[in-house]
Amino acid sequence: LASVEVSLSNIPVGQAVKVMWRGKPVFIRHRTEREINEAEEVALNELVDPQSDEARVEKKEWLIVVGVCTHLGCIPMGTATGEARGDFDGWYCPCHGSHYDTSGRIRKGPAPKNLEVPTYTFLTDTTVKIG
Ligand code: FES
Repeated sequence: LASVEVSLSNIPVGQAVKVMWRGKPVFIRHRTEREINEAEEVALNELVDPQSDEARVEKKEWLIVVGVCTHLGCIPMGTATGEARGDFDGWYCPCHGSHYDTSGRIRKGPAPKNLEVPTYTFLTDTTVKIG
């Protein structure tokens, strides 16, 4: 499918889901206030792949990223409840130990780039179209 519509109304704050888009997993996380603050407070010069959180999200509470590690393509952990989220509260790739933050940016480990942000559009406050 070229695009996929996802209803966000059943994703509580603090939780995330994985949907498939063009054969790839996409992670959608309903961020908490704390996660948003963590993402916004990081100085860009601390980042391996400097990008502001603002440039990566359309609505602060919703982070939407392609769930493919930018090192060698494993699927990072941190979407399902209780899974390891790494040292920066985002996602953790167990293949070679890459840690992503609450904006999906690479913070530690061998991955060279942030998790990719797919093209998406909010159709309503609670429906997003990816692609
Ligand atoms: Fe994720 Fe290597 S594939 S750290």
